[in-house]
Amino acid sequence: MKKLIAGNWKMNGSLAANQALLQELAGGLPPQRRTDVVVCVPAPYLAQFRALAQTLPELSAIDLGAQDVSPHASGAYTGEVGAAMLKEFGCRYVIVGHSERRQYHGETDALVADKAKIALAAGITPIVCIGETLAEREAGRTEEVVKRQLAAVIHTNGHCISEIVVAYEPVWAIGTGKTATPEEAQAVHAVLRAQLKAATDHADRVKILYGGSMNAANAASLLAQPDIDGGLIGGASLKAPDFLTIVAAADA
Ligand code: PGA
Repeated sequence: MKKLIAGNWKMNGSLAANQALLQELAGGLPPQRRTDVVVCVPAPYLAQFRALAQTLPELSAIDLGAQDVSPHASGAYTGEVGAAMLKEFGCRYVIVGHSERRQYHGETDALVADKAKIALAAGITPIVCIGETLAEREAGRTEEVVKRQLAAVIHTNGHCISEIVVAYEPVWAIGTGKTATPEEAQAVHAVLRAQLKAATDHADRVKILYGGSMNAANAASLLAQPDIDGGLIGGASLKAPDFLTIVAAADA
């Protein structure tokens, strides 16, 4: 399957920094690439990406993504951004259920599943994040937790589940420099693949990304695992040479 490398800029960037980063990325991506590449930018910069694409044709090699979406279509939801708005600005992907949203904004499994659903209905691919905390891993609960998180999304989305992207991001590995070993990550990815297989005949086309301190040095060994179909990259997506190295590793 074609791999997917997704950059999650989180709440970083500025007009000037984004332009420099996107120019460097667009100029550095090899034209004969198999891997899909997306950058998930803070909402105010979606328009900047679109405007830049007018003058920088190489930017068409990079898809645009958002970092969150409202579970509501429109209306009195101050501060929220709707799926139709993201679509209008050219988003092909949206991250839902990132652990930072689960942790700091109280997002539940059910809410994350609803966000995935509204994204799919708008024609946007949700990148559904799941993952266990350190305490859960140490208590031997990793499988139970990730299966519960994915089950909610399967339950709400039915046969459309084959259209999502899953990102397994162990919370203890995010932004900590502590990565899951390729074997640890693969073991969880295999569990998730089996769960998807039980839910859809098309489980083999669901990309399961790994995220959590993936970087230029460890990407190749993670991406070589049979059920790791790409990466969701935080810190390293803000440095063009590192992000390009990860894309090259996915392409190899
Ligand atoms: P990190 O973040 O690569 O900085 O660990 C990954 C993520 O949170 O998506």
